[in-house]
Amino acid sequence: MRIYDIIEKKKRGGELSNEEICYAVKGYVSDKIPDYQIAALLMAIYFQGMSDQELYNLTDCMAKSGETADLSQIDGIKVDKHSTGGVGDKTTLAVAPLVAACGGKVAKMSGRGLGFTGGTIDKLESIPGMQTALNQKQFFEMVNRLGLAVIGQSADIAPADKKLYALRDVTATVDSIPLIAASIMSKKLAAGSDKIVLDVTVGSGAFMKNLEDAITLAEKMVVIGEKAGREMVAILTNMDVPLGIAVGNDIEMIEAVEMLQGNGPEDFREICHTFAREMLVLSGQGTEEECDKMLREAIKSGAGLKKLADMVAEQGGDSTYIYHTEKFPKAKYSLDFVAEQDGYVVKMDTEQCGKTAVMLGAGRETKDSLIDSAAGIRFFKKTGQKVRKGDILATLYASKENILAPALSFLKDAYQFGQKQPEPQKNILAKVTKDRVILY
Ligand code: URA
Repeated sequence: MRIYDIIEKKKRGGELSNEEICYAVKGYVSDKIPDYQIAALLMAIYFQGMSDQELYNLTDCMAKSGETADLSQIDGIKVDKHSTGGVGDKTTLAVAPLVAACGGKVAKMSGRGLGFTGGTIDKLESIPGMQTALNQKQFFEMVNRLGLAVIGQSADIAPADKKLYALRDVTATVDSIPLIAASIMSKKLAAGSDKIVLDVTVGSGAFMKNLEDAITLAEKMVVIGEKAGREMVAILTNMDVPLGIAVGNDIEMIEAVEMLQGNGPEDFREICHTFAREMLVLSGQGTEEECDKMLREAIKSGAGLKKLADMVAEQGGDSTYIYHTEKFPKAKYSLDFVAEQDGYVVKMDTEQCGKTAVMLGAGRETKDSLIDSAAGIRFFKKTGQKVRKGDILATLYASKENILAPALSFLKDAYQFGQKQPEPQKNILAKVTKDRVILY
């Protein structure tokens, strides 16, 4: 077999066999095939697409390129959740404890932020002492005892994805639906859960800018998961505005705590509730109505919040931060974005909002950048809201004063104002299962 022939076949729209796909993936991971040939293959896939069978084979081969977690030592049904990425997306921090408080088992491997999107692990590590690198025995024991653990994804999970993603990043092949589907699902399959709920984000702060593409991506990921014997649900959520009010590490951790106390912004609460319900229903904890009731009780009784505090304590973190969020250090400097005239916020470029947070120090410009956990933005006015001259639209936080003015001017460009109130946006846009697509 020759990689040249495989590239040629895909370039002409042919269907690659499992052997051909695995030859390319294994050859690349073992450094036998050079970057430039795999880059050509990725570009051919970008333009020609992949059949469902090719996509499954690619995902399976990538999933098996490293360690695959065997979660059989954890009792019961293990349920996972994954977001395709967004701005202000702290959902896992509230959803995983809620699901565990209602009897679910969440053995979660999460990522760090890169680019304009944040990562759960960075947010958790804003709590002093928090360890996100547990060994397998500690991880399994914790999920058996507590119902949850959230750890960083080990370097051995789907190493093919790591290498391919880095190559896609520099060859303009990231925004390919089959390549995104294989990338995400290879990690999910390797992570081992029985049931998976996907959050496929849609809008200016997401990879998928429109609903049609997001439905296609969701369908592809559901097909891959079901073929691999996992039960799948994908929920499409609005990422045309940042989720909730907070974008940054400490302040998102605080917002997740507020959600578990029954407070916080309405969009974030609705999204958390929807994901927790889907995860509980998939885990066989009850009907939608029963799971809704359990969730409301877990919030009212404080059981969800206690699960988060217990998880933090078990992972070496200072759990008093969960009950006393005023302990999170405040950023040294802040600057308000003040409305210059009356009107409505008619549109936000959410990716640009995320990039502003990165400029402030809340995210990483490169893999090795250090995070400033106190940096970030609080959004007080988002798309659809009326503003009056002098209102504070957002507050920017940073540890270096000289970053604030350029970041504010960048954020200003992310907002569009008008005199007419735009149509209200839905938070939950659609649900995709193996049998159907439901539009909301
Ligand atoms: N997230 C991933 O893990 N991979 C992609 O390709 C895009 C988003």
